[in-house]
Amino acid sequence: MLVLAVETSCDETALALIDFKHSRDFKVIAEKISSQEEVHKLYGGVVPELATREHLRNLPLLIDTLWRETGLDFKKIDAMAVTQGPGLKGCLLIGLSYTKAVSMAFDLPLVGVNHIEGHLLAPLMDNRALEFPYLALVVSGGHTELVLVTDFGKYKILARTLDDAAGEAFDKSANLLGFSYPGGPQLAALADQYKSSRFKLPKVMRSSNEFSFSGLKTAIALLIQKNRSLLHEADTRGELAHAIQESIVESLVSKVQEAVHSFGIRNVAITGGVSANKHLRRRVSELSGIKIYFPEFHHCTDNASMIAYAAFPRIIANQRLELNGTALSRWPVEEVNF
Ligand code: KG4
Ligand code: ZN
Repeated sequence: MLVLAVETSCDETALALIDFKHSRDFKVIAEKISSQEEVHKLYGGVVPELATREHLRNLPLLIDTLWRETGLDFKKIDAMAVTQGPGLKGCLLIGLSYTKAVSMAFDLPLVGVNHIEGHLLAPLMDNRALEFPYLALVVSGGHTELVLVTDFGKYKILARTLDDAAGEAFDKSANLLGFSYPGGPQLAALADQYKSSRFKLPKVMRSSNEFSFSGLKTAIALLIQKNRSLLHEADTRGELAHAIQESIVESLVSKVQEAVHSFGIRNVAITGGVSANKHLRRRVSELSGIKIYFPEFHHCTDNASMIAYAAFPRIIANQRLELNGTALSRWPVEEVNF
């Protein structure tokens, strides 16, 4: 079954074409992604109006490129999938309008997918050895959640952030160090060049069951402020980046450790943009007694393959997006129905 998926929930326009035999046996035929980083970095964050306009411009171009490169056309597609939420309303609407129109024109089944469900299933898609049930830590620009995944469509939130997401903590710290948006990967690349740091940050989140980055964010802002006059020195910036990465990563590692201990589940998946962080990957892989899984690097950040993957069991189960099915800017993943 050939599935075409479209993802437009935030600032990446993405397409994927996957040929499924079943959920554990499939072939990715093509993946396309168009990032809007250049547009938004002028403003230090995603501007929803501009993001919407970019999707409108890029989506048809990306489809054209996909057809040209694969030699396929809509007549060969068996079903379509689209991110229905959560995300920026205008952005979601572009993907929804486009896929509704095409699916009607070619009489194709269309399924609406929860973006977080996509992130939760990305490690399953990329690791044949991973099986249900597993603990998933979603660490992205907008989400930090620990979820018990027992089956397709069966998600239980065990902990979530009370304030910022892990990706935001990276991006906001990176901004204070002078990196352009989204600075997380740049901060990480600089931090990885240093083996140690003269700077220390507090250990956070040890006493609460939830995630919270506000205390750490304040400590980071104060530390950078205190050393402002030294920020032009390469080593000072590098060691600050090292200390910041260390503190965010250690807070996540301690939560994973706690969760494994409390729930006794040994399969752990880390997913979402921040799961591309090499230091985080290294540190959680050192934890004993658990098996740890990540998506492939290009499936950590937003992509359409994870949307196709989450859609497949729904297509099989005859779920359909109604014509009046609308964009859901807020859509907690535990509320998906299956
Ligand atoms: O999942 P994603 O692409 O978008 C959302 O759904 O939010 O995640 C993007 C986030 C950004 O905050 C970005 O800075 C962060 O993931 N990120 C990283 C790394 N790569 C992406 N943070 C730290 N280290 C990285 N290597
Ligand atoms: Zn995402």
